[in-house]
Order: sequence, then C-alpha cells, then structure tokens
Amino acid sequence: MLRLLLRAWPPRPAARPPASVRPIRGPPLPTAADPAMEPSEAAAAEPSAGQNGARCSELDGEAPESTDYANYFCTYSFIYHQKDMLEDHKRTGSYFNAVMRNRGAFEGRVVLDVGTGSGILAIFAARAGARKVYAVEATSMAKFARELAIGNKCEDVIEVIQGTIETVTLPEKVDIIISEWMGYFLLRESMLDSVLVARDKFLKPDGALYPSHARMYFSPIESPGASAWQGEYQGAMEGWHSFLHAMSSLYDVDLGCLTNEFNKEQADYYLQTAQWTDVHPAQMLGPPVCFKEYDLLTVTLEELKKPVSAAFTLDVVAGGPVEALAGFFDVEFRGSPTNPADHPVRLSTAPDMAGSTHWGQLSFFIHPPIDCGQGDKLRCRVCITRKQENHRLMNVSLHCDVLDPSDMPTGVPSRDLTFQIE
Ligand SMILES: C[S@@+](CC[C@H](N)C(=O)[O-])C[C@H]1O[C@@H](n2cnc3c(N)ncnc32)[C@H](O)[C@@H]1O
Repeated sequence: MLRLLLRAWPPRPAARPPASVRPIRGPPLPTAADPAMEPSEAAAAEPSAGQNGARCSELDGEAPESTDYANYFCTYSFIYHQKDMLEDHKRTGSYFNAVMRNRGAFEGRVVLDVGTGSGILAIFAARAGARKVYAVEATSMAKFARELAIGNKCEDVIEVIQGTIETVTLPEKVDIIISEWMGYFLLRESMLDSVLVARDKFLKPDGALYPSHARMYFSPIESPGASAWQGEYQGAMEGWHSFLHAMSSLYDVDLGCLTNEFNKEQADYYLQTAQWTDVHPAQMLGPPVCFKEYDLLTVTLEELKKPVSAAFTLDVVAGGPVEALAGFFDVEFRGSPTNPADHPVRLSTAPDMAGSTHWGQLSFFIHPPIDCGQGDKLRCRVCITRKQENHRLMNVSLHCDVLDPSDMPTGVPSRDLTFQIE
C-alpha cells in the first residue's frame, strides 16, 4: 500500500515516459538505464505470438497489430507488471473467492480465460475442478503461463494459447469465460471489447461470465491534489518564462510564439488529465453515485463502443468546496441466470480506509474548485468517449450545475469540464 501511495504522491513529473513504456496500470516501469529493464526489453520491443519457434499450442493465433502492441500489450509481457497485478490481493483474492466459493459452477466445465497473463485465473479454474481451461494470452507472457501451469500440475487441464482472442479458434464452446479486463475507471484499455468478442464466438448460450456485472461511480471529494496540480502547472509556466528569457539572452532567439501551445500542453497534462489517487473515505463529501451499469452477458459490442452518456446528481452532504470527482468501479461475480453463483462476490475499487487496489480511483480535479454549501447538490452530465488516435484511452466531459437542498440554483456558475484519461 505504501508503494501505491508513493506512486500517487507527489504528482508525476512533467517529463513523461514515451507511450510504449508507460505502464498500462501500476507504477512506472524501470527506465532503459535500469539494468532491471534489460532482460525483458527485447520482449517488449515487438509482438511475438508464436515466435522463436516456441508455440504454446496448435491453437495459437496471431500477434497483436504492431501499434496496439507498442501502445498497450507490451507492458503485459513484463513479469514485473504481472506481479504488480497479482500482488493486488483485493483483486486476486476476489477472483480466487469468486472461483473457489463457486466450485460447483466450475466442476466438470469448460472454461476460457481471456488474457490469461501469468495464468493465475486459469490455475484457479483448474483447481476448482474445470474439465478443460483454454488460457489465451496475446503476449509472450503465454510461455510463462504455460510453465506455471506445468509447475502447478495443471497442464493436463490448462491449454495455453498464444495470440489475440480475436484470431484464435477453439475446438469447442465453453461454459464459462473468466477474465480480468478492467482498466482505470473501468473502461480504460477497452479490453472488455475482446471479452465480448470471445463471448459472442465461444460462450455456450447458457454460459456464464466471471465477472458478470460492472458498475461505474462518481463521488464528490476534497483533495490536496487539486492545489498541488495547480501549483505544478504554475511552476511549469514560470519555468517556461525563465526558459524564454535564457533563449533570448543566450542565442537571441525569441520562442514566445510557442507560449500558447506550451501553455495548452501543460494545462492538458496538469489540469485536465484524470489522475491516479488513493482517496481516503474521509475525503468524500457525499455518497458515491452509480451512473453506469453493464450486464456483461447482454451488452453488445456496438453499445460498448458508443459514448457513455449519463445524467446523475451528487449530494454534497458535507458541503464543499468540491475539489474533484473521484471515479471508480466495481464488478460482481454472480454467474448467469442458468448457472448462478452460489456465493456471489463483489470486487470494489471504492475509496477504502485500508488502502486502494492497484486501480486506485481516478480523480478529476476541478480548477478552481466548485463552491457548495452543506446539503447542496451537483447535477451532472458525463460523456465518456474513446480517443480517436488510441481507442484504449478516453476523453471525459462533465457538465455540473450547483443546486441547493431544494433543487434551486445556488447562483454558483455552471461548469463545463473536459479531461483525458491517459
Ligand atoms: C489485466 S491482465 C490480467 C492477467 C491475468 N488474467 C490476471 O488476472 O492476473 C490482462 C491480460 O490480457 C491480455 N490481453 C489483453 N487483450 C487481449 C486479447 N485481445 N487477446 C489476448 N490477450 C489479451 C494482456 O496481454 C494481459 O496479459
């Protein structure tokens, strides 16, 4: 937990690592100068499904497309990164409980693990008595998953398949699809797309998804992060003006015409990028509100790709100023109507006194904060779209009106806010 807190605070420096080594989730990867990087660096450099003559299975599919690999998949080929997820015990323990407390649902069944990574969920399913587990992984992590299946004496049940799920064919339909696909604020990474592709291709009509449901929430919070990010932004602009001065006096070159663009770049990053935070419940100024729910058995790929538009009202019970909206999610393992879980399990990423999961909460900092009295309400509309240049990242727009306890405008101006989820 300490490591997670350190990661969130102080804020990241302005110089960002290139997209290809930015972590999908979790703390920054070692830099290229760090010897820890070297053994796996080659693995991160290019797609490798079925490469090096080391096929995992005759069922192996194709490697990810190269840009998507560089932007997204390559981080998952690091054991370092898989470990980061595995040791999030709230996460891993929830999947363990969802499988082990519902052994009856798994015994004798055929299971598909979409994005098996290290193979952990496939091992859980095998231990719960699955007859066969197809464990599909796009990256070269597949070969470690295979070694782990052997090392844990599950190789008779688990078949590791390397390739994207979109390109794999299975010899039979499956009873259960298990997958850990959730990104920051649920939707980042857009990996749910792949789970739905798998569902539509491989799940029996009466099959079940683990997890089966997902919900997204916002809560109004107070946070020292708001002024800290504002300070970082101001510092960056002060630095820019010193830089302009130095360029002028040293080289007699005027870079002033770039000021507006630099300002926009820095404001985008410091003020309009949702930030990973570990919010303490005491920071919440009112209860969370669920603004979106997915039934994974029925949501279509087409619906999933559409913008998420929702209206919701946040009760600012404690009064403001509201310095951020904290966004988070939960998933539930309820089985399916025909094969319900005996013991449903819920994995929540809500603010928690005991510390956050590795997903933390994404804080959407509001500059300047919104004044609210005790019992006021924020009537909000949110729209979440995928970035055009990278469908795994998001743009978020929020409109907020401030109402008093009797739903009348307080006079505080409405706010239109835009953010990116990087
Ligand atoms: C969040 S990790 C989960 C890993 C593991 N299941 C666990 O719970 O620890 C998601 C994994 O899915 C893989 N993945 C994502 N999209 C995929 C796709 N379309 N086909 C195959 N694997 C995919 C990634 O490479 C990554 O290893």
